[in-house]
Amino acid sequence: MTAHILDGKKLALEIEQQIACEVNESNFSIKPKLAVILVGENSASQLYVEKKQLACVRVGFETQKFELPSSISEQEVLVLIQKLNQDSSIHGILVQLPLPAQLSTEHVMNAILPIKDVDGFSSHNIGLLAHGNEFLLSATARSVLRLLETIPLDFKGKHFVIVGHTLVVARPLGFALVARDATVTITNKFTQNLSDLTQKADVIVSAVGKPSLITNEMVKENVIAVDVGISRVNNKVVGDLDFENLKEKASYITPVPGGVGPVTVSCLLENTWNSFKVQMQL
Ligand code: GUN
Repeated sequence: MTAHILDGKKLALEIEQQIACEVNESNFSIKPKLAVILVGENSASQLYVEKKQLACVRVGFETQKFELPSSISEQEVLVLIQKLNQDSSIHGILVQLPLPAQLSTEHVMNAILPIKDVDGFSSHNIGLLAHGNEFLLSATARSVLRLLETIPLDFKGKHFVIVGHTLVVARPLGFALVARDATVTITNKFTQNLSDLTQKADVIVSAVGKPSLITNEMVKENVIAVDVGISRVNNKVVGDLDFENLKEKASYITPVPGGVGPVTVSCLLENTWNSFKVQMQL
């Protein structure tokens, strides 16, 4: 059997259209505005930031980019964030990761006012998530859930294996799945016998950025396979899954590109829109 391909582009468009419609029909006196902070000159980060800002424009949000040199001190970044926290015309603040080594991701994320932390990476919002409050859930984690919600899958009692342990997706997704009564395994590069774990998975979510990390022999028949990895091979964007072979064994699979990525951008818009509405009522 060949797997059903989960179409992220189509779902992303639906979510965007819904937000654009709500923005258009709302009668707030101002528009939501997302501030995006980009530190250094990482070409992948530049591309992601551009995609996020173009999406903001498509749904009628405003957006402003702050480009900072890679040598910037933590204090200078924190001063900018404080300024944006106090600016009532800014509703969301996103600091693109990864950051240069001299900046602590924890300090930078925790400087963002929790209601403006549209990535959901601050200790406050991760803490809320641990209590089951998904108001500002990481956009990538929400994207994985959104894609899985399009298929007939009862999360309860299913074994999810998340390959990779990042703050951006694995940890928040783990909390969200636990809240749905799933059984969750989160692996890292020291995990022994990864195959033994992945072979038991009903759902595999791979978020490492290592091409062909997950092969056919590592999964059971009819697995649901979600690919969050992004790498470049011969100038082509590829994920972590050996897609061509896995699609013959899986029941559902997400492609790269065109799977989790586009939905993640729409989920960021969704977080920004929801956060904006709360701020307008304060
Ligand atoms: N780097 C990779 N993914 C993300 C994301 O979702 N948000 C931010 N801020 N940085 C990232």
